[in-house]
Amino acid sequence: MNNIKDQENLYQKRVLLRLDLNVPLKNGIITDETRINKIIPIINFLTEKKSKIIIISHVGRPKGKVNKELSLKPICENLEKKIKKKIKLIDDNIFQLKKEDLFKSSDNQIVFLENIRFYKEEEENDVSFAKHLANLADLYVNDSFSCSHRAHASVSKITEFLPSFAGLQLETEINALKKVTTEIKKPITCIIGGSKISTKIGIIKNLIPKFDNIIIVGGMGNNIIKYRGYNIGKSIKEENCEKIIKEIFESSKNNLCKIVFPIDVLVGKTMDDKSKVKELVDIKNEDLILDIGPKTIEKIKYIIETSKTVLWNGPAGYFENPSFANGSYEIAKSIIKKNKNKSIYSVVGGGDTVAVINQINAIKDFNFVSTAGGAFLEYLEGKELPGIKALN
Ligand code: 3PG
Repeated sequence: MNNIKDQENLYQKRVLLRLDLNVPLKNGIITDETRINKIIPIINFLTEKKSKIIIISHVGRPKGKVNKELSLKPICENLEKKIKKKIKLIDDNIFQLKKEDLFKSSDNQIVFLENIRFYKEEEENDVSFAKHLANLADLYVNDSFSCSHRAHASVSKITEFLPSFAGLQLETEINALKKVTTEIKKPITCIIGGSKISTKIGIIKNLIPKFDNIIIVGGMGNNIIKYRGYNIGKSIKEENCEKIIKEIFESSKNNLCKIVFPIDVLVGKTMDDKSKVKELVDIKNEDLILDIGPKTIEKIKYIIETSKTVLWNGPAGYFENPSFANGSYEIAKSIIKKNKNKSIYSVVGGGDTVAVINQINAIKDFNFVSTAGGAFLEYLEGKELPGIKALN
């Protein structure tokens, strides 16, 4: 994998820079800026080299359609302020864009293409879309480790049409995760939560042989509660997961890996509601499970207490509402406590998980914080990520 930092002649070169600026947004306001802060070094590096930068990113999952709520405008403006440089957001249809349309005025060194997932061709890893993007630039840089598990046009296919390089942050993330996976100390606990059930549920089975405990919370926890025969009301869930969950439990027995899931929960009637503690048997049709309950927290704390390594991806609940943030905060606090006396090695990954620990100002209290969520888990699985494979 060639790194852009070893590249000699970047002067006036047009660099197509794939970033992952998929930051949490609430009513157009960025609620966590970590992913933006992490890519400042690559922007500074390229601007110092006097390259011309075409930033590509996605935010959210607009599913191939233009969705004003998922515009990159607030992210572009935030980045402009951080680097104190003008950035032009281009919202013209990418298919109509030509190389000569970009960088018309001489003071214009950075342009930002509107959400790449407004085009269905992105997720289809479409050849002509990738070719078209490639025609806008002289070389390609992937500095988005956190979406390198997606075989999408601006992550994977594009590398067939341009000289392609790894970015600074991508290399940092890979080196740190390599170190974690080779020097890992047992017992190892993996905590998996969040709302992207479809991305993660298939991964768990492959993680079982590598870990001593897997704690399943968040959206996936709901699927397990349902599988165990309880009502989960209106809570988020993935359809048709029974077979995979059955396999998870069978494999955990064969591999002596303990699967831990919520034994009590916090519910609300709406996402903005106040929380109410419930035993699993008491969950009603109109309830939404939005966090883990106090008994579950105690169980998780005990497991963390007896672990030497903990890897955490995905919050335990809907932390955006403070009434349902407690489960995630308690998990964070018990890891931090052990980290302070150096009796655990802790790695945290994913946009929302990082947002949770930022809320309690605890980023420095973990050994490594990865911006990646799904990519982080797939890397732990031992998979070669499509975006990384393409660079190799
Ligand atoms: C992430 O947040 O993990 C990446 O931006 C990828 O997002 P996705 O899960 O919507 O593909």
